Amino acid sequence: MLSPELVQALRAARHIVASTGAGISAESGVPTFRDAQTGLWSQFRPEELATPEAFQQNPKLVWDWYAWRRELVGRAEPNPGHRALAALEGIVPRFTLITQNVDSLHRRAGSRDVLELHGNILQARCSSEGTLVAEWEDTAETPPRCPSCNGLLRPNVVWFGEALPADALARAFMASRTCDVFLSIGTSTAIAPASSLPFEAQAAGALVVELNPDTTPLTRQADHVLRGPAGELLPLLVAALTAG
Ligand code: OAD
Repeated sequence: MLSPELVQALRAARHIVASTGAGISAESGVPTFRDAQTGLWSQFRPEELATPEAFQQNPKLVWDWYAWRRELVGRAEPNPGHRALAALEGIVPRFTLITQNVDSLHRRAGSRDVLELHGNILQARCSSEGTLVAEWEDTAETPPRCPSCNGLLRPNVVWFGEALPADALARAFMASRTCDVFLSIGTSTAIAPASSLPFEAQAAGALVVELNPDTTPLTRQADHVLRGPAGELLPLLVAALTAG
């Protein structure tokens, strides 16, 4: 499955970047964005709910959608793909984990340093003051109110049209430009700026490896393509790195 050249490059790497998308959590039962959603929410496209405009027009609808997703994520467990990446943190001389996911499954699998480019669904923040709120009371009225200013709470995630957390983004670009190997895992590479990271890495001389069961805009340009689910491929990759 892993070519000898790839195994050699992984073993020689001083700095590996792994950048993950919704696909890595698919095997934990968290639906990806561009797959059909189920049930009540199948009639809404994420692009229509994950915007500041949608929240302004219908805060209850948007909050309830995120509450549904928060519950789903809370019931999910990290899978062997998440755990393999947590193991890599202790194996590779320098390892940077970047994720577009908001589900906390990397942290729950044991990864300590995670650059969350799109925020975290388990947190909320005040929509008027911006203050982070880690815990809140679910009220009959949704969204709940900010305990200090009574403004509406919103999920602490990045919506379409909003800026990404500047510090995490800067660190992600810096790591991509200085790594030896860049692993693009379970992302459709459809949403900028995260989608540009593997191209930045390659332009700076890194080897780019895609792990995905399907073709993406990155596939043609990747140096190695590993076809299959992340939960199967990543443990193989860790085994190849640690063997003998
Ligand atoms: P997508 O839903 O666009 O893509 C998921 C990718 O995972 C696809 O390329 C699938 O082929 C792949 N995939 C599915 N099952 C997999 C598995 N078991 N192992 C590995 N890969 C698998 O999700 P993202 O690329 O993460 O942004 O989407 C990027 C962003 O678009 C999201 O963070 C979100 C969304 O709109 C915001 O909410 C700001």
